[in-house]
Amino acid sequence: MNNLTGMKRILVTGGAGFIGSHLCKRLVEEGNDVICLDNFFTGSKRNIENLLDYHNFELIRHDVTEPILLEVDQIYNLACPASPVHYQYNPVKTIKTSVMGAINMLGMAKRVKARILQASTSEVYGNPAVHPQPEEYWGNVNPIGIRSCYDEGKRVAETLFFDYHRQNGVDIKVIRIFNTYGPNMNANDGRVVSNFIVQALKGDDITIYGDGTQTRSFCYVDDLVEGMIRMMNSRDGFTGPVNLGNPGEFTMLELAEKVIKLTGSKSKIVYKELPADDPTQRKPVIDLAKKELEWEPTIPLDKGLERTIEYFRSVV
Ligand SMILES: NC(=O)c1ccc[n+]([C@@H]2O[C@H](COP(=O)([O-])OP(=O)(O)OC[C@H]3O[C@@H](n4cnc5c(N)ncnc54)[C@H](O)[C@@H]3O)[C@@H](O)[C@H]2O)c1
Repeated sequence: MNNLTGMKRILVTGGAGFIGSHLCKRLVEEGNDVICLDNFFTGSKRNIENLLDYHNFELIRHDVTEPILLEVDQIYNLACPASPVHYQYNPVKTIKTSVMGAINMLGMAKRVKARILQASTSEVYGNPAVHPQPEEYWGNVNPIGIRSCYDEGKRVAETLFFDYHRQNGVDIKVIRIFNTYGPNMNANDGRVVSNFIVQALKGDDITIYGDGTQTRSFCYVDDLVEGMIRMMNSRDGFTGPVNLGNPGEFTMLELAEKVIKLTGSKSKIVYKELPADDPTQRKPVIDLAKKELEWEPTIPLDKGLERTIEYFRSVV
């Protein structure tokens, strides 16, 4: 806490990315002193340019695989490429970012006694044998596949969080984020919502991988950010992991049809082969978030898609 102003000093790693930029904005607008740390691998200055004039916002170009010491009260650890195209571009770097990034941030949290939240992922459940997925499910992850650098990196990061907690008393919070979408998503990262919207706006074919019956649940970014902040400020001793996502389940075909309708596009749907290890279904159980954080998503898919389409119209 800043003794003069009473504001919290908050570090957001990966703050110039899709989710990080929304989180930084909300924290800055609430009057906190926010440090955004990013190496701009997938994030961009454009995502946070509206924050640069705020006196309580600071930007640091830094790679989380290198140590750094900052005096802060809270750390949100989001730094990590999150889409297959980006995390598979340099898999060794991806796993280093998850693992060494976690070690560096946990080391800092330990030194300055900060509370630290890890942005983990539903990918820790792998191709789940249990559906929908509660936090107690340990997952079904391929350790040697092309997605493993991300999935296993995030799993090790969770392990590190709990070991620093048990061994050093670090005040940790772990969230498992399910598919999230909204403005500031990277247009070229191959994630399904941005892919479909960009293809629809350009009038290109909409590509569905597989037969389109695989399901996902989509959470609008404002709902997610609300859950993240609630988790960070949740009661002492509640560490998680806690699922944050929208349990509404849609097939890829349903999503493609919604996007075509909402954009008024003339695009056609085409089918391509499913990539290796692509999970066939994913849906969070959010009972724990409801109970501990009094949180659940409030923004329906159609409304979230409209806002996201509006954003992509301005950038495509
Ligand atoms: N978007 C989702 O649906 C989703 C789902 C599950 C988990 N997550 C997690 O949430 C976090 C944010 O995801 P996002 O969707 O905003 O992705 P993103 O790629 O937009 O954001 C990641 C940010 O981290 C930065 N970064 C990457 N490597 C770094 C490094 N070595 N040092 C410093 N910064 C680095 C990137 O430049 C980018 O700004 C990630 O940790 C991701 O794994 C996201």
